[in-house]
Amino acid sequence: PYPYFAELCRVPVQRLDADTWLVSSHEAITRLLRDPRMSVQDRDIDTTDAPLGSDGEPVTGPFLFRDPPHHDSLREQTMYRFAPRIMGLRPNIEMLVTGLLDKRLSDQPGQLDVVAELAYPLPVGVICELLGVPPEEEPVFHSFAGRLTKALDPEETLTEQEITELAVTRREWREYLMPMIAQRIEHPGPDLISALLTDGDPSTRMTLVELGITLGMLLIAGHETTVNLVANGTLALLRHPEALARLRTDPELAAAVVEEVLRYDPPVQLTGRRATADIELDGHTIRAGEHVSLLLAAGNRDPRRFADPDAFWPERPNNAHLAFGGGVHYCFGAALARMEAQVALTVIVTRLDNPRLVDDPPPYRPNMLLRGPEQLRVAHDGIT
Ligand code: HEM
Repeated sequence: PYPYFAELCRVPVQRLDADTWLVSSHEAITRLLRDPRMSVQDRDIDTTDAPLGSDGEPVTGPFLFRDPPHHDSLREQTMYRFAPRIMGLRPNIEMLVTGLLDKRLSDQPGQLDVVAELAYPLPVGVICELLGVPPEEEPVFHSFAGRLTKALDPEETLTEQEITELAVTRREWREYLMPMIAQRIEHPGPDLISALLTDGDPSTRMTLVELGITLGMLLIAGHETTVNLVANGTLALLRHPEALARLRTDPELAAAVVEEVLRYDPPVQLTGRRATADIELDGHTIRAGEHVSLLLAAGNRDPRRFADPDAFWPERPNNAHLAFGGGVHYCFGAALARMEAQVALTVIVTRLDNPRLVDDPPPYRPNMLLRGPEQLRVAHDGIT
């Protein structure tokens, strides 16, 4: 998509159709992400049957799809319990990644599929650990993560059958979660679910419906995105052997490598907003009610913001990429995603001897929003 984005980036703001704008410059995207007149609520939602939330307002979805002020207290409550729990997680992630790699290398020497065998099991394993889900339940979480991810697609791109399946999956997810939640109410543990249920002032605590929706969102939002970051990062390193060699000898470079992968090949390519008032932008007027597609991946290669934008350059100074969005909806799981990718990429390059791509380019998932290979086969000469 990048040559196409480069083309689009020449005209930072343009009409896509009668009520949608495409915005592709770093500056304009950054501005709109921070503009309180831009709403994440895509359309007017019928709230007749919606249950009431902790703020007494109808619950219309996870906080990713809600505007302030409803968004803020839910995000804050969750973050307050999430942030301290991920701080000490790096050694667990290292163990998880090393274990996945060892298991696979003994099964089939000489080749591995980084997506299926490493990137895919990683984020679900980590989220299960945070939620205190026992290892035997992990396959169920994997299956829900895969099926619920469809909820991130714009609804108008889904078929009738996909919409029905998604509704069934959502119901099954609620039915699956409720006994787990009930058990944590009876016997709270050190996990995130117990903390969200029992910590803090009971009068402002999120309701059980809000909790179920929040947990589903954490599972979905952190799943395929992280899979793609690990896969896109592996691909970028294998295509840039000098960067790979530097990371191999200096693991301190992992943080900069991951930031550059996020800029160069972001897992989330775009996001959307709807204007709630007329907004002047680069000589255009976006009218209230109109939609805006913010092309994060195009902004990440905007030559007005990044020197030599098509080069993969981990030492790039001031790498203010847009891969995690911006403003009040800035990615909730950014610190965790960074940690998982830094560990995974470091382990891959330090432990695989002479890794090389089997297919270049690899096959991709057909998805406009999320970009990443479906399979990433890497040949190697063993573990060093
Ligand atoms: C929001 C990207 C990993 C949870 C976002 C947004 C982006 C993004 C672009 C902003 C969407 C918008 O403004 O419309 C990514 C990428 C990831 C990643 C590229 C991995 C490489 C994660 C993880 C979690 C997570 C691991 C959770 C465990 C969320 C949540 C939001 C969000 C809950 C909504 C935040 C809010 O509305 O306040 N993410 N994400 N993400 N992300 Fe991530």
